[in-house]
Parts: sequence; structure tokens; C-alpha cells
Amino acid sequence: MLFELLLSHIFVGLALATPQIFQRSSLLSSGCSTTGPQSCHNTTVVSDLCCFEAPGGLLLQTQFWDTNPSTGPSNSWTIHGLWPDHCDTTFSQNCDPSRAYTGIGNLLSSNGASDTLAFMQTNWVDINGQNEQFWEHEWSTHGTCMSTLVRSCLPSGSVTGAEAVAFFQTVVRLFQRLPTYTWLANAGITPSTTRTFTLSQLTSALKAQSGFTPALDCSSGTLNQIEWYFNLKGSIIDGTFVPIDAPKAGSCPSSGIRYPPKSGSPTTTTTPPTSTTTGAPGSLPTKATIHALQSGSSIGGLLSLGTWSTQTLATFTLSGTTSSFTMTSSKGNCGVSGGSFACGSGVSLTSFSAVSSGSNLLLASGGSTAFTSDGVPSGTTVFTVFTGSAHAQDYTLSIVAS
Ligand SMILES: *[C@@H]1O[C@H](CO)[C@@H](O)[C@H](O)[C@H]1NC(C)=O
Repeated sequence: MLFELLLSHIFVGLALATPQIFQRSSLLSSGCSTTGPQSCHNTTVVSDLCCFEAPGGLLLQTQFWDTNPSTGPSNSWTIHGLWPDHCDTTFSQNCDPSRAYTGIGNLLSSNGASDTLAFMQTNWVDINGQNEQFWEHEWSTHGTCMSTLVRSCLPSGSVTGAEAVAFFQTVVRLFQRLPTYTWLANAGITPSTTRTFTLSQLTSALKAQSGFTPALDCSSGTLNQIEWYFNLKGSIIDGTFVPIDAPKAGSCPSSGIRYPPKSGSPTTTTTPPTSTTTGAPGSLPTKATIHALQSGSSIGGLLSLGTWSTQTLATFTLSGTTSSFTMTSSKGNCGVSGGSFACGSGVSLTSFSAVSSGSNLLLASGGSTAFTSDGVPSGTTVFTVFTGSAHAQDYTLSIVAS
């Protein structure tokens, strides 16, 4: 009882300490209560495993700090996955090969989860640039072992792969609650080529910020991975993740731990999704969503009227080549007039070009990839997109094949 009170108290602390929680509802609803037993804490056998995660009720949200080569934004850890360990820390893998879905990027974008996909392209990235294979591996290896995501638990009529869409949405939401980089930085622990840290410096800083002790893994004395542990009330789709202290230590030594910087800047290193509708890398897709990239993060993108929003992104039709093309949306022609971008029935087409930047294909108007707005969108608040840099919020627009 005391333990439970303590947990709920600390959990409130964790929620408050977390700067950005993306309020994004799952497309699926499990219909499960979140007031039932907490996974790994039941005292009798629970028969409905659609609403109670078992045997994998000890959930690990794993994050990478990859510096060789550097992967992802320089000021953020990246997602490895969400793993369902048994309550005793043993685990199962590859539980249902019949649901080892491929084409995760397309599955997400065609099921209303383009915002999740855009976030993954920046923050759930493979060290060799094979994002699609990495995502497929994480789903098939770990996701298919989650009892609350088996097909028979889903609402009837759910599309094939709906549970995988829910898995990726949940992992992204959970990761957004766990800003490891920021928590360390708040305690004065920032990447360095010269400093080393003790394990207790790192874990006590993270415990002070988050309320819980994670496990830290090292490779040759260099910090490389973190495991944040949870139990779950309800379903992976929409249940409550209850943070807990790591039940076992990671592989880091007790002292002399290096936390080296990633190369580059906090600007994004997104990789576009592998798509069946694009040709060679860098070629212009005919159908695309357009994502806004700002300070290393992907924040929403363009709606069909051409405004910047964090709502579900519009699909644009592109005609031409990367050196000159026009765009339309469901609302009509897209164009720039008087320095602002819009799409609609009264808009005249203007020509755009696309510029490769790293692995992104950026939209350019008049040869410039700079776009700007008066604010950052959230919820139903959207902003007009202007060309140039005259307004308060600068960003670039990345063309992602859909
Ligand atoms: C908790 O529920 C799971 C799933 O039904 C079961 O395997 C396990 O034995 C239960 N634990 C206890 C202590 O009854």
C-alpha cells in the first residue's frame, strides 16, 4: 500500500517534470479499463490477456546514444524500442511470424499516423540508415509478443496491421515522456570529449529528474543505451504505463563512463521512409506529405490549405522534376503569392524545386529552403507559411513520399 502511494506520488512528479507530452489519441481503442491490475502485480491468474499484458508485463522503453556513427539529433537520445520482458526479466521474441509486417512507413502513413511516422524519421533511426528494416525488426521481434496486441483483441473490422500502428504510436508517446538528454543536461551532464562520469552520478541525476532509476548500458566504457522500465495497466494501445525502478543494472562500469558528443548540430538527421512509390533516392515523389523541421525536431507539416499544423498532414500531388515542379492538394493549386504560401481554388500555380539536404528532400521556393511563421502550431492552432525568414519561427519543409 505504502509502495503504491509512493509510486503514484512520484508518477505525478514525472508527468510535471516532462516538458512536452504530445496529446495524440490512438486510432484504435482497446475498450480496456486502466483501473484493473498492474502487470506483474496480480495475485491471482488473470484470464483476459487483451487487457492485461502477460507474460511480457515488464516493459522496457530502450533508447540509444549512438555516436559512432552519430545517429539522430545531437541533443536527443533516439528510440530503440519497447520490449515486453517477463516479470522475472527473461523474455520471448518473434512470437507471431504471421504478423511480421513489412512496409511500416506506408502502414503508418496510410492509417492516419503520418505524425508518428514523421517523428520516427527523426527520432527512431537506424545506425546504418535502414530505418524501415529497423522498425520491422522492432515490431516483429518484440511487438508480436505483446498479449494485448494480438489480432483477436482488436475491434472487429480493424485493418491488417492496425495493432502495429498502435504499437508505434504508443512507443513514440512513451519516448516523448522520457527526455533523457534534457534530464541529464538539467543536471549539468552534457556530452563531452574529455569528462567521464560515475554510474551513480548518471543514475542519481536521472532519478532526481524523472523519479525513477533507469538501467544504463555501455560499450567499451562509453554510454550507449538506456532502459526505462514500466508496468502497464490496461492495453499497450491505450493503457497507463506505470514507471518503476530498473529491476537490474545495465552493463556500464561504476566509473570512468564516457558520454561523447554526437557529430553535427542539433539540426535534424532525418531519413525519409523507404517507399514503394518513389524511384531513385532524391527523385521527386508524385504523392507526398510535407513535414516541418525545426531545431532538430519534426513538428507537424502542411494541411491541404497550405498552413502549418500538427494535425493529420495532407497529401500533395507533385508534377515535374526536382529542379522544377508544381503542387496541388485536395483544395486546389498551391503557390506563393506576396510571400505567403497557400493552396486553394483561387491560387495560381507557382513552381518549386527540391533540394537534397542530408537524407532529406527539402522544398524550395525561388531557390530558398527557408520558411517562416508567426508561431508554432499545436492542437487546432495553425499558422500561415511565409517564404524567407522574416517571421518568428524558421523551419524547413521536408518532402516525404506517401
Ligand atoms: C498473473 O497472471 C498471469 C496471466 O494470467 C499468470 O500467468 C500469473 O501466474 C499470474 N500471477 C499470479 C501470482 O497469479
